[in-house]
Amino acid sequence: MNEQIRLAVNHFENLLRQQLERVSRLEETSQPIDYATLSPLVIGVIGGDGIGPLLVKQTRRLLDFLLQDELDEGSVLIRNIDGLTLARRQKLGQAVPQDTLEAIKDCHVLLKGPTETPKGGSLESANVTLRRELDLYANVRPVSLPQEGIDWTFFRENTEGEYVLGSSGLEIDGKLAMDFKVTTDAGTRRIARAALEFARKNGKTKLAIVTKANIMKKTDGKFSRLVHEEAAAYPEIEADDWYIDIMTANLLNPAIRDSFQVFVLPNLYGDILTDEAAQLQGGVGTAGSANLGDRYAMFEAIHGSAPRMIEEGLADYCNPSSLFRAAWMMLVHLGKQGAADRLGRALEICLESEKRLVVTGDRQGARCDQFTDYVLETLQQL
Ligand code: IPM
Ligand code: MG
Repeated sequence: MNEQIRLAVNHFENLLRQQLERVSRLEETSQPIDYATLSPLVIGVIGGDGIGPLLVKQTRRLLDFLLQDELDEGSVLIRNIDGLTLARRQKLGQAVPQDTLEAIKDCHVLLKGPTETPKGGSLESANVTLRRELDLYANVRPVSLPQEGIDWTFFRENTEGEYVLGSSGLEIDGKLAMDFKVTTDAGTRRIARAALEFARKNGKTKLAIVTKANIMKKTDGKFSRLVHEEAAAYPEIEADDWYIDIMTANLLNPAIRDSFQVFVLPNLYGDILTDEAAQLQGGVGTAGSANLGDRYAMFEAIHGSAPRMIEEGLADYCNPSSLFRAAWMMLVHLGKQGAADRLGRALEICLESEKRLVVTGDRQGARCDQFTDYVLETLQQL
């Protein structure tokens, strides 16, 4: 047992040193990239696993239409990136194969289909690896229910918390297992500022800080305290603390839920709460997500690769609106406001006001390609 303890302590020391090095890198300030100065602007598209390639193929049809002029004149380039499949990742034993990572880093922004993550084992999730390697620290997830006056935007911290060492826990066989949660000052301050800046720019006056600081006293305690410190520079924004358990209840409570606007929360709570929020909007198949860093940005659905739909032969009935919304977020992020507004308007018509075709995820509903035809036809009329 003493030997096992010694090995565990060594392991922990290595993790601590690695994390302190990461903190030093975070403390170096970086300037956000200015897309307007890039020519060509390179958008990488990655199919991923399961229903991913289908979703990406259909989303690409919308982008080809919306960015036609820029693509023709060469100021925007859409580049296919292959090689991020589970089979290849497993064969190479790399969460993101080295050559694929290099191809990804040659792009400015990415549109990505879901990738599959095996449970247990040692292969890290490709998502987690990409978020870390590209330093995509803000996971922004909007959810809206216009008929109820709900317009929420979640700022999920995306590079630390329970995820950063999620594949580096330790175990003493037959006795116990431990995972680690890491919250850094620099990591917390930057997600806080991202949420506060968004609130300011969009005229939002309420920020909900969601933690479990009564139990996770060090990590969540720090998160809450530092968000409040950053919020002091935004006097028009009221920052309030909520615990994650009651917040999951509040999202189901019509008497209170329309009062929330912007949320900021550590990684794992953000993962869970945004699935719940997406379900209220119509399901995870309807929700898009932006992973933003200062140098790179990646846009994706909030759901996984749906292996069950593939097994049941239902892949063609998958809902592309998650990735359509992600594409909308990408256009907004790139400053392509005209194209973004058109797509936003078409999605509003096809998903809310007109709903001539509805995707249900089974044979009762429209197929993914049929729904895309519908959105394209709608776009052509705008
Ligand atoms: C998400 C997903 C990922 C996560 C998985 C695929 C690793 O659930 O983007 O929310 O846990 O972050
Ligand atoms: Mg999730």
